[in-house]
Amino acid sequence: MVDPVVALTEHVQQAMAAGLGAEFAQADPVIRPANKKQTDADLQVNAAMALAKKAGRKPREVAQAIVDHLDAPDLVESVEIAGPGFLNVTLKSQWIAAAAASMIGDPSLGMTAPQQETIVIDYSSPNAAKEMHVAHLRTTVVGDSLARTMEFLGHKVIRQNHLGDWGTAFGMLVEHLLEVGEGSDEAKLLLTDPNAFYRAARAKFDASDKGEVDSDFATRARARVATLQGGDPESLRLWREILELTKGYLRRVYDELDITLTDDDIAGESSYNDELAEVCQTMEEKGLAVMSDGALCVFQDEFTGRDDKPVPLIIRKSDGGYGYATTDLATIRRRSLQMHADRALYVVGAPQNLHFRMVWAAADKAGWIKGTEPIHVQIGNVVGTDGKILKTRSGDLVSLQSLVDAALERAATVVAESRPELDEQTRATIAHQVGVAAIKYADLSVSHDSGYTFDLDRMVAFQGNTGPYLQYATARIRSILGKADAADPRGPIVLTEPAERELALKALEFGAVVNQVGETLEPHKLAAYLFELATAFTSFYEACPVLKADDPAVRDSRLALCRLTLEVLTRGLSLLGIEAPEQM
Ligand code: ARG
Repeated sequence: MVDPVVALTEHVQQAMAAGLGAEFAQADPVIRPANKKQTDADLQVNAAMALAKKAGRKPREVAQAIVDHLDAPDLVESVEIAGPGFLNVTLKSQWIAAAAASMIGDPSLGMTAPQQETIVIDYSSPNAAKEMHVAHLRTTVVGDSLARTMEFLGHKVIRQNHLGDWGTAFGMLVEHLLEVGEGSDEAKLLLTDPNAFYRAARAKFDASDKGEVDSDFATRARARVATLQGGDPESLRLWREILELTKGYLRRVYDELDITLTDDDIAGESSYNDELAEVCQTMEEKGLAVMSDGALCVFQDEFTGRDDKPVPLIIRKSDGGYGYATTDLATIRRRSLQMHADRALYVVGAPQNLHFRMVWAAADKAGWIKGTEPIHVQIGNVVGTDGKILKTRSGDLVSLQSLVDAALERAATVVAESRPELDEQTRATIAHQVGVAAIKYADLSVSHDSGYTFDLDRMVAFQGNTGPYLQYATARIRSILGKADAADPRGPIVLTEPAERELALKALEFGAVVNQVGETLEPHKLAAYLFELATAFTSFYEACPVLKADDPAVRDSRLALCRLTLEVLTRGLSLLGIEAPEQM
């Protein structure tokens, strides 16, 4: 047990049971970090105010009763009653030291695993044969961090890359592939710059459709949609060819960014094709869907538009085609009834919120959600330093690759300046790790639903709340440990200086923070925590000589604190999907 809040909770509950009555044995003691402006204590117990009424006593009397019965000599140094009945608790430094030392070398770092859940995480989910743009970058990074965190917490994680791999656009893509020739350089664009392939196909289609060129491309593309949907083997083969190339592209992007998604995680829209007719039929039979203007629609009273009339969720268009909503009905059904998800996370842009709420409400009415909580992890916009959504000069959304390239290039410049003496290969490795960290941390350090500014200078800086700063902190600690020639320092830890105590206490919070991220789905809380830990380390390192400590016992203790900080930082960064370079 390394979390002082959990340890203190047990003791306070025992004190409440003894001093107030057995019915208080499970009451929440409401423990918070103490307000450092008012007291030097570590924790504050606020139960007295909350429980006074139920106990039929004044808050200060309740507080006194708890203090009188609190029996935690190993954990608690002193308790004082303040204000209306707060308890300010100062922890024993020895307890903190022992708890901190017990974390060293422990792969779980003192984290108490929550009750295991099955968690489906839908993230990245780009559209095939179109380049991933900046919004996909953020869902990829946030989703991957959540997947890593949930796995660390011991949950069963099922990754789902809901690839947009079906739809009418494939008619024109297949025809374009045939024209440029399978295996041609232009076809291979799908591997490197899928957007270029898509744009070329689109331009041909538009020109032909508007009659600007003498070509039947648009006609052929439309006919291809029909044969594809009809299951014609040759059309399907060509469609698969496009998908295979797209997968190659995705593998490269995920690999470059160190994202844990693999081909096996792809559960594209097309994987639901066989279920869509039945989904519509069942919705209709259950009286949930009705025909309106030739389309099959679900109207739900709780979703109304400006005119106060229910807005339709279209599940079969008037031309008989199925759409995004139909697929998502089948999707939540599979995730709940077949995968038995306890939570199904959809890490998707905020503008899709209404879509998801309507789909899930309809699926729930159909009995397709059982024991599953679907959650939209809303992703906010990425904006440029001018505050506007990132677009290229031609008005397209900025591509993911161009952002990644820019960050990697900037990181290379920074590393070349800071470490000119390193050989090129080493510098390139570090620059890559730094560039990826810069992007990911910028995505993750801001709450996922608010926008963030893509500002390369700030993101790549080694100072401030950045990914590279945290990486730098780990490299610095590695170098201290290297100089000490202490392969496996474990203490014992002795806490005498305030900065040592602060650092150790911060480290003890790790497990609670990770658990919190698992519940609230907010990786930025972990990012903020790691930044606080790195800051506490800096204060410690400024105040407390490590290598130059005179007393060998003090030196060992401080080396152990360095090692603990390094372990927590590297583990925390890995949950954000960020690698910590050996040196920087
Ligand atoms: N492909 C979609 C897009 O790019 C995101 C899919 C999200 N997942 C889902 N189940 N709808 O906007």
